Amino acid sequence: MKKIINIKNKIKNFDKKINISGDKSLSIRWVLLASQAKGISRAYNLLMSEDVMAALESIKKLGIKVKIYNKYCEIYGNGINGFKYKKNLIINAKNSGTLGRLILGLLIKSPYKIKLIGDKSLSKRDFSRVTIPLKKFGAKFFYKIKNKLPLSILGSRTLEGIDYLEDKGSAQSKSTVMLAAINASGTTSIKAKKSRNHSELLFKYLKIPIKIKKTKKYDFIKIKQPKKIKSFNYQIPGDISSGAFFMVLATLADNSKLLIKNVNVNPSRIGVIKILKKMGAKISFKNLRDYKGEKISDILIKSSSNLRAINCPSRLNSSAIDEFLIIFLVAARAKGISYFKDLSELNQKESPRLDWGAKILNMMGVKTELTKTSIKIYGNPNLKIKKQIIIKNYLKDHRVFMMSTIAALTLGGNWKIHDQDSINTSFPSFLKIIKELN
Ligand code: S3P
Repeated sequence: MKKIINIKNKIKNFDKKINISGDKSLSIRWVLLASQAKGISRAYNLLMSEDVMAALESIKKLGIKVKIYNKYCEIYGNGINGFKYKKNLIINAKNSGTLGRLILGLLIKSPYKIKLIGDKSLSKRDFSRVTIPLKKFGAKFFYKIKNKLPLSILGSRTLEGIDYLEDKGSAQSKSTVMLAAINASGTTSIKAKKSRNHSELLFKYLKIPIKIKKTKKYDFIKIKQPKKIKSFNYQIPGDISSGAFFMVLATLADNSKLLIKNVNVNPSRIGVIKILKKMGAKISFKNLRDYKGEKISDILIKSSSNLRAINCPSRLNSSAIDEFLIIFLVAARAKGISYFKDLSELNQKESPRLDWGAKILNMMGVKTELTKTSIKIYGNPNLKIKKQIIIKNYLKDHRVFMMSTIAALTLGGNWKIHDQDSINTSFPSFLKIIKELN
């Protein structure tokens, strides 16, 4: 059901503890890897959102048994390349770029064509970033519009490892090739620009033969085909990309304090915290701990009235790639002109987010200078919105909806925000948690 929310009042000050839902990247990776393991794997706190449900539906169609209980989810893996299915199979990745791309890595041996479809937003996104390396392995692709969904994949029986350069800083492309490497004999070598490393950490934990050498800009990854993958249980930590909306809410609200419990603070994901702290936000880690190679922490945020502009170093881009919309909001309330550059990838997301960021800030009365890869934001510490703002988010981008909601709750104005159902892709409990704060 499509819904429009109307926000007319700013949020009152709060001092609360919250839990946010499970990490989307880890949830989808757990589903896909558990489908390749031998035996029953269990995940606790799996993100129960449309993207993850689409992943579960997809592996079910590929012959994998899935059971969902109240507190956990079980996947009955058939081992590597253990999918069983009939001809003319259609898999629907819905809104999820991560699912749509990563699952292709597991299909490079498919004896029949499998069709991959997605929603309007996913059908506009680029798939050449995964079809190019997967063709190198020996897979074939068929499409109406080149490298766009819907597409069909046909695998090859004999697959050899490949050498692959990932130069966009895309964890989805890197992970797709890593999953394909599980099916290919020999060694796959990847030179990858820095991006989130959940797949690498899971491979290590699962004892899939992987070697990683790190340099400043690139990681050099070598993967050998494993003989088998053991089933595994996983407690999914909270998603920092969901938590980021609440970090900004607490930063911009008056006299407030918030503790977000059990968040995944993997160093390749904490760009948002580094950027916000450089801008004067008061954010600290409490009870930092290790979990199966990942880092988990509670995050304490206090409101800040002294925010300053940032010339954001591009080296932080990939570790904050899903958080820029909400970071732009902080820049709008900071003193000075902020500059974010080398962000062409931001227009490759569920919607063109660099353009949307500028558009929403402009509606709020904030001056911006936008190019295809960068944005300058003229901040104003006294920013108060008094007019009506209507956000119609035609590609139903969940993060556009959530950023607009946080803007409405912290900067004032009379907001009508369309497509509430978009939050179901990544963070269905977003509005419920906001209600808990008041
Ligand atoms: C993701 C990688 C990022 C991110 C997406 C999730 C992942 O995409 O934007 O939300 O789980 O690997 P790119 O790989 O396209 O940068």
